[in-house]
Amino acid sequence: MIKPKYHVFICNGGKIAGDRKGVCHARRSLEIIEKFISEIDERELSADVMVNAASCFGICAKGPVVAVYPEGVWYGNLTPDDVEAIAEEHLEGGKPVERLLI
Ligand code: FES
Repeated sequence: MIKPKYHVFICNGGKIAGDRKGVCHARRSLEIIEKFISEIDERELSADVMVNAASCFGICAKGPVVAVYPEGVWYGNLTPDDVEAIAEEHLEGGKPVERLLI
């Protein structure tokens, strides 16, 4: 089994019991997922970083929400334009992006 260095969970707004178009989805989470995938590909980080869409984290007011493990770093109020900084500074550089933390 491959164990990634970083596991990135991106809320896609779904609720386990129903609504597939919650707050994060309405705030462009699909574009954020696509941007993470393309940043990881371009930086050749796919051996170290796994990306998964996730259901609601329960803090919708701060959405779109992204959680990065193993550190348990949570980002919020993201836009697709924020993903490049997370990829460069955190996933590549090892330092969370302070201004985007929640
Ligand atoms: S829909 Fe993303 S945190 Fe609730």
